Amino acid sequence: MTAAYRLDVLSLLPNSFNSLSGLGVIGRAFSTGIAELNVYNPRDFTKDSYHKVDDEPYGGGVGMVLKPEPFFDAFESIPISQNRRVLLMTPQGAQLTQKDLRRWANEYDQLVCICGQYEGFDERIRTLADEEVSLGDFVLTGGELAAMSIINGVVRLLPGTIGRAESLIEESHSDLLLEHPHYTRPPEFRNLKVPKVLRSGDHAAIAKWRQQQRELRTKERRPELYERWAQKKVSRDLPKQ
Ligand code: ADE
Repeated sequence: MTAAYRLDVLSLLPNSFNSLSGLGVIGRAFSTGIAELNVYNPRDFTKDSYHKVDDEPYGGGVGMVLKPEPFFDAFESIPISQNRRVLLMTPQGAQLTQKDLRRWANEYDQLVCICGQYEGFDERIRTLADEEVSLGDFVLTGGELAAMSIINGVVRLLPGTIGRAESLIEESHSDLLLEHPHYTRPPEFRNLKVPKVLRSGDHAAIAKWRQQQRELRTKERRPELYERWAQKKVSRDLPKQ
């Protein structure tokens, strides 16, 4: 069975992707054909008897550099779908956002993620990619966790993976705001009480409180996000000329 959305990964640690199938709705998206995941190990594409994937840097220096040939050969073995996007995981890339995940989920039917290890990539490997992506300003030992984050975030947005209501929220301008607090039973736990308004049954009051909480939380925790939301709100609320 060919799935609607194809994910391919180049990784020297292919087993690390096994855990994705255990991730609840993400695992179900793979088993029900919403998406398929194929992992390729560049080491399997080496031609020397040592299966060497790295070598010393030209010009000297510490550490090793990942060789281009096994990465190119592994990459070229991947079937090509109509709308494909190729990503390279690196702390030098543009920082991943929800907007990127939406774009990759909506505009493509194939995503290829190239993962390095702690060594650097030979610069020529970069030419395979359409975009370079970073999880943030910190350095991991390899790109696998970044690729798994992207795969999780993209598959979550594919039709059928999760409920429709949540997908709609995704599309709203309000996704710039953090979520409001959530509570469930009991009404009091270790002297911590559920806010009265949530138990009032007054839907308008609840909606108002939740919106206020979202704005407050965002302003306090993520002032730059709040600014962007406020700007967007101003232009949305402006009367049309
Ligand atoms: N590889 C190593 N560190 C990384 C990061 N922060 N983001 C993406 N890929 C990486």
